[in-house]
Amino acid sequence: MSKHVAVLVGSLREGSFNRKLACELARLAPDGLEFSFVKTGDLPLYNPDLDEGPPPETWTAFRKAVSRADAVLFVTPEYNRSVPGNLKNALDVGSRPYGSSIWDGKPTAIVTGSPGGIGGFGANHHLRQCLVFLNAAPMQQPEAYIGGIADLFDGQGRLADDGTEKFLASFMAGFAAWIAKLT
Ligand code: FNR
Repeated sequence: MSKHVAVLVGSLREGSFNRKLACELARLAPDGLEFSFVKTGDLPLYNPDLDEGPPPETWTAFRKAVSRADAVLFVTPEYNRSVPGNLKNALDVGSRPYGSSIWDGKPTAIVTGSPGGIGGFGANHHLRQCLVFLNAAPMQQPEAYIGGIADLFDGQGRLADDGTEKFLASFMAGFAAWIAKLT
């Protein structure tokens, strides 16, 4: 039976390179994984007061979408050596109410992409730190820090670099094995 992977893209930008990367990761994944993209940009900033009554509908929809997935793939740029605020907010929204976290035990994988050479290393490890605390299960190896991301795609948003394509396919094979081990 197929495993369902929720994809969270850290960038809200229309022409986001990381969104293109996420689409290519889904395309290169082995058979047996299905993907759905879950939005994080319309979630009100987390405020515990809003969980006292019926929570915002977008929070509920987000929590359900991630809860029913077998695994989560994060694909994100680095903002100021961390993750973009919308992604951190999504982690916070999913972590509450206390005792009902959607992240608990969830197999996850992190891919960071940047036009720079460090490939979003800082964001990758900030996100990893949060996921470890949240008792999610972030895949340790292989890691994916994609530098020079602005030069990787053709005009149709397809990868134009064979080496990167091979690496991303092997990354997704590793993630499929990680999910199979934990679910
Ligand atoms: C950036 N960018 C950036 N890049 C990086 O490698 N390290 C960083 O710390 C930052 N910080 C940062 C902060 C803010 C507020 C912005 C808007 C941008 C550059 C960033 O990697 C670049 O804009 C990417 O193209 C963003 O990814 P998407 O939107 O193309 O997916």
